[in-house]
Amino acid sequence: MKAIKLSDGIHWIGANISTNDLFEGIWPIPDGVTLNSYLVQGEKTAVIDLVRDWGGAPTYVLSQMESVGIKPKDLDYVILNHLEPDHTGWLDMIHIIAENAKILTTEKGAEMAKAFYNLKEEDIDVVKSGDTLDLGNGKNLVFEEIPHVHWPETMVTYETSSNTLFSCDAFGSFGALKGSIFDDEVPEADFDYYEEETLRYYANIVGPFSTHVLKAIDKLGSLEIDMIAPSHGLIWRGKPERIIEQYVAYANYSKDYAEPEITFIWGSMYGNTERMVRAVLKGIAKEEVPVHIFHVPEDDVSYILGQAWKSAGLVFGMPTYEYKMFPPMRYVIDLLAQKQARYKKVLRFGSFGWSGGAEREFSDKIERLKWDLLESFDFKGAPTQEDLEKGIELGQKIAKQVNEIPRKFE
Ligand SMILES: Cc1cc2nc3c(=O)[nH]c(=O)nc-3n(C[C@H](O)[C@H](O)[C@H](O)COP(=O)(O)O)c2cc1C
Ligand SMILES: [Fe+2]
Ligand SMILES: [Fe+2]
Repeated sequence: MKAIKLSDGIHWIGANISTNDLFEGIWPIPDGVTLNSYLVQGEKTAVIDLVRDWGGAPTYVLSQMESVGIKPKDLDYVILNHLEPDHTGWLDMIHIIAENAKILTTEKGAEMAKAFYNLKEEDIDVVKSGDTLDLGNGKNLVFEEIPHVHWPETMVTYETSSNTLFSCDAFGSFGALKGSIFDDEVPEADFDYYEEETLRYYANIVGPFSTHVLKAIDKLGSLEIDMIAPSHGLIWRGKPERIIEQYVAYANYSKDYAEPEITFIWGSMYGNTERMVRAVLKGIAKEEVPVHIFHVPEDDVSYILGQAWKSAGLVFGMPTYEYKMFPPMRYVIDLLAQKQARYKKVLRFGSFGWSGGAEREFSDKIERLKWDLLESFDFKGAPTQEDLEKGIELGQKIAKQVNEIPRKFE
């Protein structure tokens, strides 16, 4: 496998990972993910971010290095923008092979490198915002810390001769690349796939750090950027502003801004709650609001988080189970809370058999989420005709409400 040229002396080396493993041990990636690593060659050579030993990635990267005449033992610098093991898992090995390479990372990154990989103080050069590294031959790197996007030690690396931003997880995405690594070689029709996978990545990984994302984007605004080269997903050289705009919108979804859409999540043991699902959907359909329907536990929470993150409205249908919520729904709601999906218009309903309990647990859980609860209503056993009519009414009501959410952000 050959390295792919980004510009003179700068190459992508990386791997499209296809695996049944879960990303971070929790998020399914049926369409894969890329681990992007980069080589910058001046008189000295630096590798920016590594891979982990996953899907054969190190083998690809080694052969890609060799395709541009670099043996790992010749590396002068290993730059670690971020210490999460998807980018550092291979550090153990590279540290042994590239015996002369200096490892560059932030102060917090250095602490992690020592803790995770048993590195010594003398193996590492600590860098901070504004520090530069002259590789010779006109290649010059500048470092900028972007803490908490999404780990506290995170930084980006900027190459000044090509105006390339190596942004690590910022501007990253799930999903293996189809055909090309560059945005300007992707057919427009494929962008739906990339956007969905970027949104899902954002909601799963970066969402709770949205304030830091906006700070980072603000900070990087002073750079002239011709190319964004993240550690996952497409390399943006045609329209880098496109991925920046996506990330700005996603970060703003954590505030009082959302798409006029509803994410509708339901679970039912014996079909009673399910009958109400159909009634509520009937009501929503009257307002022609797009609805993303998920059935728990069958549908994975990773996808629910993606759609819920951008939707103005959330609807939950779940029965009472042992005096509490139907358990798979509790998991969904706990993750929505952990990822800080806030400022939503919300409706909940469900069936119970004797004294209920789901309603109470739900109300307690959502107290701190700034969710605007239209109603949380329970019915005993099968819904009556009257219950179903109420469901239709409430469906229409929440659909009307989501249409009133602000569409613009500053
Ligand atoms: C395992 C199990 C636990 C239940 N626990 C409760 C409960 O604590 N309180 C209650 O009122 N009903 C309880 N029920 C009754 C259900 O809430 C009731 O059957 C309801 O109609 C189920 O809705 P569904 O048909 O949408 O699954 C339980 C039912 C099952 C199967
Ligand atoms: Fe990460
Ligand atoms: Fe990552």
